[in-house]
Amino acid sequence: MTTLFDTLQLGALTLPNRIVMAPMTRSRADDDGVPTDLMATYYAQRASAGLQISEAIYVSANAKGYSRTPGLHTAAQIAGWRKVTDAVHAKGGRIFAQLFHTGRVAVPPLLPAGVEPVAPSAIAIKGKNYTDLGPIDYVVPRALEASEIPAIAAEFGAAARNALEAGFDGVELHAASGYLVHQFLDASINHRTDSYGGSVANRVRFALEALDAIIGAVGAARTGVKISPRIKFNDVADPDAEEVYPHLARELSARGVAYLHGAKQGAYNVHEAVRSHFQGHYFAGAGLDQASGSAMLASGGAEGIVYGKLFISNPDLPRRFRDGLPLADDDTKTHYAKGAQGYVDYPEA
Ligand SMILES: Cc1cc2nc3c(=O)[nH]c(=O)nc-3n(C[C@H](O)[C@H](O)[C@H](O)COP(=O)(O)O)c2cc1C
Repeated sequence: MTTLFDTLQLGALTLPNRIVMAPMTRSRADDDGVPTDLMATYYAQRASAGLQISEAIYVSANAKGYSRTPGLHTAAQIAGWRKVTDAVHAKGGRIFAQLFHTGRVAVPPLLPAGVEPVAPSAIAIKGKNYTDLGPIDYVVPRALEASEIPAIAAEFGAAARNALEAGFDGVELHAASGYLVHQFLDASINHRTDSYGGSVANRVRFALEALDAIIGAVGAARTGVKISPRIKFNDVADPDAEEVYPHLARELSARGVAYLHGAKQGAYNVHEAVRSHFQGHYFAGAGLDQASGSAMLASGGAEGIVYGKLFISNPDLPRRFRDGLPLADDDTKTHYAKGAQGYVDYPEA
């Protein structure tokens, strides 16, 4: 019977356990998207995870969507990430870079002068983006021209190459949480009538182009993909998730992607929906604890279990699980705050 403490072969990497740290935006980079020394400390503190997935990293200046989030398109950003990956490796860990483009989640003050937020269609998100300049209403994004889309996919490839240069062990394509890749998948957000909209195959096209660019740069054995169908965030609806996600999973399988990471963040059971359509390793995440994660592994429902909030407040989570030690709660007020508090000051047990 497989447990959280069994090893897992992921491409050339041997994960010492099946406890995966979820990608989590923590907003501790500088205003140029350069990772700070504090970030190296934070990730190194959590290096006992079988695999760490970094917070979402924007692939180009036009892809940024939140204050103090990191990028991976400048020399300074690559050098900053190198400090993070060196610190993780020095502690015996392994870390993938999660790559994203925020699309219509961006607001103009976060983008280069004159650059507008873009999306598959000109439909705004309701609500506000909470920036360091204050809350800013989402704007109606500019619908991308079909001719512009291949260049954005290529940015994912370039950032993936930079990820290897920065010392990451692999790359996760962020196709979740209502960011640009997800915006193309979701028929309530993508109203296009060209080859990137309409049918399921057309709505999946951008995801596969971005993915193929990443695979071209780092290889399928070092590539994972995250999905979160019907998440209640960024106005995601996914009206035909039942068709989209099994189709996507089969396309990922055909490409030999190392893992598919599904976050179940609503009634739709992504774990059951895609499992049989994907031949690589399946990582299940969202709302799981030691007991439910162990049960999923034991039943063969997943090969790895992804923990988010528990890793924020329990840097030594694998040891706490193994030794039955008490778990600390996270302070949500400091999730996206500045500085060390609520970030690197959670003690080991
Ligand atoms: C503070 C915070 C930041 C997050 N940032 C990201 C992110 O950058 N990329 C992503 O794919 N998911 C992000 N998530 C979602 C987590 O990866 C995970 O799916 C979610 O927290 C559910 O897992 P949990 O119940 O184990 O926390 C974030 C979650 C939290 C709490």
